[in-house]
Amino acid sequence: MSAEVAAVVLAAGQGTRFRSDRAKVLHEVAGRSMLRWVLESLRPLGLDRVVVVVGHQADAVRAEAEGCGVQGLTTVVQAEQRGTGHAVRQAMEVGALDDADTVLVVPGDVPLLTPAPLRRLLDAHGARAATLLTTRLPDPTGYGRVLRDHAGEVVRIVEERDATDAERQVDEVGTSIYAFAREPLAAELARLSTGNAQGEEYLTDIIGPLSADAVLAPAELVAGVNDRAQLADAGAVLRRRILDRLMREGVTVIDPASTYVDADAVVEADAVLRPGTLLEGRCVVGAHADIGPDARLVDAIVETGATVTYSVMVEASVGPQATVGPYTYLRPGTRLERGAKAGAFVEIKQSVIGEGSKVPHLSYIGDATVGKDANIGAATVTVNYDGQHKHKTVIGDGAFIGSDTMLVAPVEVGPRAYTGAGSVITHDVPGGALAVERNEQRIVPDYADRKRKPR
Ligand code: UD1
Ligand code: CA
Repeated sequence: MSAEVAAVVLAAGQGTRFRSDRAKVLHEVAGRSMLRWVLESLRPLGLDRVVVVVGHQADAVRAEAEGCGVQGLTTVVQAEQRGTGHAVRQAMEVGALDDADTVLVVPGDVPLLTPAPLRRLLDAHGARAATLLTTRLPDPTGYGRVLRDHAGEVVRIVEERDATDAERQVDEVGTSIYAFAREPLAAELARLSTGNAQGEEYLTDIIGPLSADAVLAPAELVAGVNDRAQLADAGAVLRRRILDRLMREGVTVIDPASTYVDADAVVEADAVLRPGTLLEGRCVVGAHADIGPDARLVDAIVETGATVTYSVMVEASVGPQATVGPYTYLRPGTRLERGAKAGAFVEIKQSVIGEGSKVPHLSYIGDATVGKDANIGAATVTVNYDGQHKHKTVIGDGAFIGSDTMLVAPVEVGPRAYTGAGSVITHDVPGGALAVERNEQRIVPDYADRKRKPR
């Protein structure tokens, strides 16, 4: 039987350097919270247990951790945040790590982490007392420095604030990622003190006594995020990773630098993402769909061969070969069926536009059901709101709505019916009929000349 490995994820801190009213590990980058990125990096390791230490905004952080659905996940509360060592001690003392032979410690603020360096760390660790993951940084300011002796053995870690000028020259830093054998870890945690510049129980202080080995990893995989500038840097790396994967899978990305795709988007081969495309949340983009330039999609679905140009879609979906834009706003609950069109300066919410139907220009369609092959003339408005309630508009197959029609809901326009341009439609229109609601045109002859005449 293999030895049990448990992970402790440190997520109790406030993240002072973020200057935020939200706990640092809940801040999102490339579509996921930092905490979720970390938990996703652990998931493929199939660990026996994952213990998340929560404290600052404990309920919200716990909810986020549990929402990730990682097997064997539990949480432990660190009521007061007295340091990284104190945090691990809480997990140890409530017995959350009792079954573990090996304890993997991971901070909640390393969104770039992948399983690979963790596997290397665990392999190198074997049955040792302690092994730490380190990295080299061109600017190590703020991190704990890894001090080695003449033989190259790790002696201890010194925090920035406790380091001498000479020690601060060291560019190898601790990543806050470690593997420990449980028993020596428990013994050293019990001995931790707070005699340092921050008055905290530093986890780094047990590295000296345990004579640890170190595994070096590239900063692109293990760098911690302590402020919003580092968060933005991490975002750039994560987005590029997501786009690289999509491009390998057959997606055309014209300009990766200006394309923002969240981690949970699904984009099929031969889709094209043009500059200024944002796919936020859980978007799905089908094969040969063409998105952008300048399109913001949030939890939206764009099926095969559809195009979305200079537009915004939020919780909306469009069928195969549908066209959207330019300058179109599709709001929640909108569905364009196959081949339907929502053109320039059109806003649609909570409506179905049937197969082949067109809303080409300057219209507002809300709470409506439009059948197949209907044409909605320019500047048509569904007057769906009476100040208190929303009402429905139904437009039948093949209907032709004249330009500038006001459809005062609730109202129904039957199949193949027409409305005259400029009409205010307040009563149902039977199928095949024409409804016109406007005054006869009046002609005042020579009006211009008479108007100019001096009095
Ligand atoms: C820590 C390390 C430092 C290392 C750096 C790498 C210590 C003392 N220092 O510093 O050597 O170079 O990470 O990024 O360990 N946390 C708790 N409870 C606490 C304090 C912190 O759960 O009482 C959590 C935080 O939420 C965070 C993680 O531990 O996710 C790291 O804490 P942070 O304050 O960011 O430590 P650093 O100053 O970055
Ligand atoms: Ca940190």
